[in-house]
Amino acid sequence: MKFLTAEPFRIKMVERIRKTTKEERQKYLIEAGYNAFRLKAEDVYIDCLTDSGTSAMSNEQWSALMLGDESYAGCKSFYRFEESVKNVFGLPYVQPTHQGRAADYIMAQVYAKRGMYAIGNMHFDTFRGNAEMLGALAVDYVIDDGANANDKYHPFKGNIDLNKMQSLIDEKGKENISVVIITVTCNNNGGQPVSMQNIREVSTLAKKYDIPVVLDSARFAENAYFIQQREEGYQNTPIKQITREMFSYCETATMSSKKDGLVNIGGFLTTRNKEVFEIANQLAIVHEGYITYGGMAGRDMEALAVGLQEVCDKDYLEYRVNQVKYLGDRLKMYGVPIIEPTGGHGVYVDGRKFFPQMLQSEFPSQRLVVALYEEAGVRAVELGACAFGSKDPVTKEPIWPELETMRIAISRRVYTDSHMDVIANALGEIYKNRLNYRGLKLVHEGKITSLRHFTAGFELL
Ligand code: F0G
Repeated sequence: MKFLTAEPFRIKMVERIRKTTKEERQKYLIEAGYNAFRLKAEDVYIDCLTDSGTSAMSNEQWSALMLGDESYAGCKSFYRFEESVKNVFGLPYVQPTHQGRAADYIMAQVYAKRGMYAIGNMHFDTFRGNAEMLGALAVDYVIDDGANANDKYHPFKGNIDLNKMQSLIDEKGKENISVVIITVTCNNNGGQPVSMQNIREVSTLAKKYDIPVVLDSARFAENAYFIQQREEGYQNTPIKQITREMFSYCETATMSSKKDGLVNIGGFLTTRNKEVFEIANQLAIVHEGYITYGGMAGRDMEALAVGLQEVCDKDYLEYRVNQVKYLGDRLKMYGVPIIEPTGGHGVYVDGRKFFPQMLQSEFPSQRLVVALYEEAGVRAVELGACAFGSKDPVTKEPIWPELETMRIAISRRVYTDSHMDVIANALGEIYKNRLNYRGLKLVHEGKITSLRHFTAGFELL
């Protein structure tokens, strides 16, 4: 007999969330320039803007906070955190940072080189920004099945296309490629996993040409769970054994602890290369803090040490990934077009298919973000024309991205399946009325186009 299972936790403390009226939300939207980042969190009913730093901590993590040793150098909390990282990642050197992008900054200083290529499946914005500031050329070589929003099944849509990687090496020469970065899971195209085979093959190819491999590992445990579920030969392999194998193929890994660290702030860089570690130590001293705290409080390192262990629990991961799938399945029931299969940390709705009447210059996915907040007080985020759009450096003509999605990111251990039902139902209703919507006009963007989604202002067309 197969028993049903539910969340592998019970709730000990609750936080009130406020319902608002549609009229109130229309007013808040005008005040926010139709940009969800500019809404006040207290005016949001279900917040799916991001899964970053929004996890609920466990009783074990809260009690670990009290053990925080706040000594400037060599605090006990650092050693507990370091041991936990080594246990999960298997790399010998660990540099804490205040969050993931600080580790990206250090990593870019080491691995991104002016005029040289940084190959990735899809680079996350914070590495890309750091790399581009250093004059490096960041290229995305995710497999074709993962390059656009579609519902075609592929178990590992985050994989790197080895042929594209080989061609670039042949064409430009290995001396012009400074690093390969594999983002696990691949955030930009739906939280899609990368297979162990792909990580292994990318690493073998890179090794052949002496190119270092880095894992951007913000959602490493979700990736490991997908490997266990979908990849031949891993069904009976424990999660931690999978994570250690994943990281055995890289020289360095960066981490945003705000995701699979199950904490609200923090990051780190871990490496097997002593020289890289020494550079990281010095950069940390200048930008983050002394080597053994790197911008984190001792108590936060304690909570992270516990979180890294909890996230490798198979029951937790099963609940986590299945909650995302549950939302995806409900949306499909309503006919809402989503990227399939659903990934690890959210559901990505295909903005172009949802609003076929809108051009990309009318920001269909952003329009959907606005509609979802207006109707149900649910905040999602646009990953499309506004976030990924760019401009031709010479003509300044807009360049529209391949991906046009709205991400509904699910916070870890925070919302119940009833909240998922509310989201699905609201989007289902909007979908029924989809032809009555018109797009948006971008009326304000800052100087740096790649950062405009945080501050942009829109008007309804
Ligand atoms: N790498 C990946 C793959 C990420 O998704 C993020 C953050 C970072 C690095 C940077 O980490 O926020 O701790 O500095 N992603 C968040 C998101 C912001 O909403 O997807 P951070």
